[in-house]
Amino acid sequence: MERLIFDTHAHYQDKAFDADRDELLASLPEKGVKRVVNCGTTAESSKQCKTLSERYDYLYFAAGIHPEDCAGTTDEDLAGIRAFTQHEKCVAIGEIGLDNHYPEPSKEEQLKVFEAQLQMAKELSLPVIIHDREAHGDTMELLKKYRPAGVMHCFSGSVEMSKEVLSLGLYIGLGGAVTFKNAKKAVQVAQSVPLDRLLLETDCPYMAPTPYRGKRNDSALIPLVAGFIGELRGKTCEEILKITAANADALFFHN
Ligand code: NI
Repeated sequence: MERLIFDTHAHYQDKAFDADRDELLASLPEKGVKRVVNCGTTAESSKQCKTLSERYDYLYFAAGIHPEDCAGTTDEDLAGIRAFTQHEKCVAIGEIGLDNHYPEPSKEEQLKVFEAQLQMAKELSLPVIIHDREAHGDTMELLKKYRPAGVMHCFSGSVEMSKEVLSLGLYIGLGGAVTFKNAKKAVQVAQSVPLDRLLLETDCPYMAPTPYRGKRNDSALIPLVAGFIGELRGKTCEEILKITAANADALFFHN
């Protein structure tokens, strides 16, 4: 099978894959998966992403501390992230950002850790993979300040917000959520985003597309998202896979 799928956001280090991780990862290329960026959420999980990338050719990784996991982040943790970025298969800093869905970790702590990692990305000329949940104002303010290359992962905002994100030169990442019944805003974004600025992702094990919603997700399900977006845009599934993989190559591999 032609390998067209580029999954720009996965978490194969997650315990949801403990039972059959190697079997699954070994099977993905024959299911059409070309490249995957596995995203860290802590110093420890970034290390697991690094280790997995050393075992599978098609697996790359992003090192970073997720806003929900940033409580108690030390300078040593940040130095660890910086060290991982020097690995030949590290293509980004992520996933990083802000999340106001829960009261903890504190907003101050999240801002501090996000900003430190944005500074690092700028200094190292690495793209960022951004998580923004219910924190759009503060997220955009910091992105405007640092102007990194990168992607707004699992974009859930309005078309208006997507235009603001695009104006900063960032890509829009869409995944299974776009196929959900109640995904009105995401559908509007999928209809309007310039195709040369769109990336596809799983966020696996989460966000499996319809008809697998609620089940464990993996990169082989991305064609369901590509087919759904293709129908909205008058393109085939294969065309959407090719375009979005070329976009991901441009962002993460500069080609
Ligand atoms: Ni994620």
